[in-house]
Amino acid sequence: MTETQYLYDSYQMESEATIQQISQLADGQTYLILDKTIFFAQGGGQPSDSGVITGSDGKLTVKSIEYNKGEIKHIGKLNGRLNVGNKVKLKIDWGRRYQHMIWHSAGHLLDDATLRANPKLIPVSGMHGIGRKMYIEYSGQVDNPKILIEKINTELVTLQKKLQKIVTKFVTLEELQKLSNWIPESLPKNKRLRIMQIGTGRIIPDGGTQVKSTSEIPPIEATKIELGETSFKVHYQIIGTSDETKSKEAPKTITITGKKVNLRSLKANFTSDVLKLKNNLGDLEKIQTKYLGKKGLINSLFDSLTNDEKAIQGKEINDFKRSILEKLNQRKVKIETIINREKFDATIPGILPPLGHLHLVTQAIREISAIFTLIGFIRRRYPEVDTDWYAAAGLNIPPDHPARDDQETFYVSENVVLTPHTSNGQLHEMELMKRPPIKMINIGKTYRRQIDISHTPMFHQFEGLLIDKGINITHLIGVGNYFVQNYFGPDRRIRLRPHHFQFTEPSFEIDITCGVCRGVGCRLCKAGWLELGGAGMVHPTVLKNGGINPDKYSGFAFGWGVERVLAMKYDLPDIRNIYTTDLRILNQF
Ligand code: DAH
Repeated sequence: MTETQYLYDSYQMESEATIQQISQLADGQTYLILDKTIFFAQGGGQPSDSGVITGSDGKLTVKSIEYNKGEIKHIGKLNGRLNVGNKVKLKIDWGRRYQHMIWHSAGHLLDDATLRANPKLIPVSGMHGIGRKMYIEYSGQVDNPKILIEKINTELVTLQKKLQKIVTKFVTLEELQKLSNWIPESLPKNKRLRIMQIGTGRIIPDGGTQVKSTSEIPPIEATKIELGETSFKVHYQIIGTSDETKSKEAPKTITITGKKVNLRSLKANFTSDVLKLKNNLGDLEKIQTKYLGKKGLINSLFDSLTNDEKAIQGKEINDFKRSILEKLNQRKVKIETIINREKFDATIPGILPPLGHLHLVTQAIREISAIFTLIGFIRRRYPEVDTDWYAAAGLNIPPDHPARDDQETFYVSENVVLTPHTSNGQLHEMELMKRPPIKMINIGKTYRRQIDISHTPMFHQFEGLLIDKGINITHLIGVGNYFVQNYFGPDRRIRLRPHHFQFTEPSFEIDITCGVCRGVGCRLCKAGWLELGGAGMVHPTVLKNGGINPDKYSGFAFGWGVERVLAMKYDLPDIRNIYTTDLRILNQF
């Protein structure tokens, strides 16, 4: 008994087995019997496999397979020596097998179409490629073959639009009797039987090889019905492969350079020319001229035809012409890729992908925070949604104070705001640090209901706070000059103008020397100074609110706009440009 592996996996192309018997046939061929095999023996209308069986000292080229009482004979020509007990490698001709699998599964698909066209019809046999015949045979008679064929083809079109799995499995005879209305006499009664089914189609006992899905089956059609006495056959074919169309081709021959050629031999010659072609564009062009040139083979053949012959063969010659062009073009692309690959120089530096950069506000925030952290200020971030206490009341701005109107604040709820300035960080910092020294640079988002050439509703401020023993205005001036000289340039300096804020006493407006006229006075600054922002000595009430004793400690604070210093540094005519998405602007930074 040979174990039939193809029943379990139709796609296995190679395997190993052990030789159990080896014999000579009268015609000089040899046959092998193995313990197991992937070779399929002709049966169920499906042709047998061919291939090779190789041992360490010999090789059998398998031409045919015979099934005989559970034993499978691999028949063919032996080269070298093989012995009983040898381990051998099996390899089937996959191209041939796969073609047969497709034809076979296609036959079952045809049967499913027939079942839908007429559920009473019962299949009794099938032929799937032996002698180029493909049909399914049904028992009984058919009243109107033409209508049946039409119906089958309509069903085939519907079926082939669906993707269906093709499954095989093993069942007992009793199980099979429940599943199938057709049980051939010849089925062995004593072992498990294999059945197959396409999607929800007919369940059929089947011992052949099958593709896995209908997606692998090209479009098929029922071509004719052949009537017998007690049965009839429904023939099918893969669409476009009809032998009838081929037979229309008159075997017209012409003589070219002493040789007789016709369309068929031209096709064969072309195939062999392409096979022999090396990766050389010149040779490829020669083939193109040989077939498609003005005086090429195709034109010569065409010219030799009479008008009637042209009517019959013209289309096929044109198709051939198109396929020559297509094949040569594909090949040309391949050759060019190979040539280019050979030209490839791995030492040429690569092309860098374009890199973006950080937004100018992010750049400015980093620069500002670097300047202050260098002299010991700690970079902080405090909430941008905060309570009224931190943003106003705690900073000595009472509820009814007009200063609240200065900053048109966005309220989240009665007591919660989008911070209109970064001064809210002052009390947070005092609470966090508990006692001086405090050196904070708080940079964050601030919000006000304002939009014009120098305001956006969301902007950034940087808030400095320094509290310690003996801090006075000179420290504020020193830190202010340090900042402007590092941010704007070494020749810049600040001045203080008296001002009023609720949370500082005294309060100042800080100006910086104009970058254009250096303090002399010009059209941009009017009097030589540009306004930077507010500052002052922290109000004792604010210190108290932050839990710091104003009798022991003093401090200064300032709060300046990030976008404002940016606009001053780069002479931006409109602050709103900072927040455009226009790359012509953004790319300049
Ligand atoms: N918070 C003020 C504003 O946004 C600016 C300011 C003024 C901050 C004086 C301070 C300060 O820390 O001392 O208009």
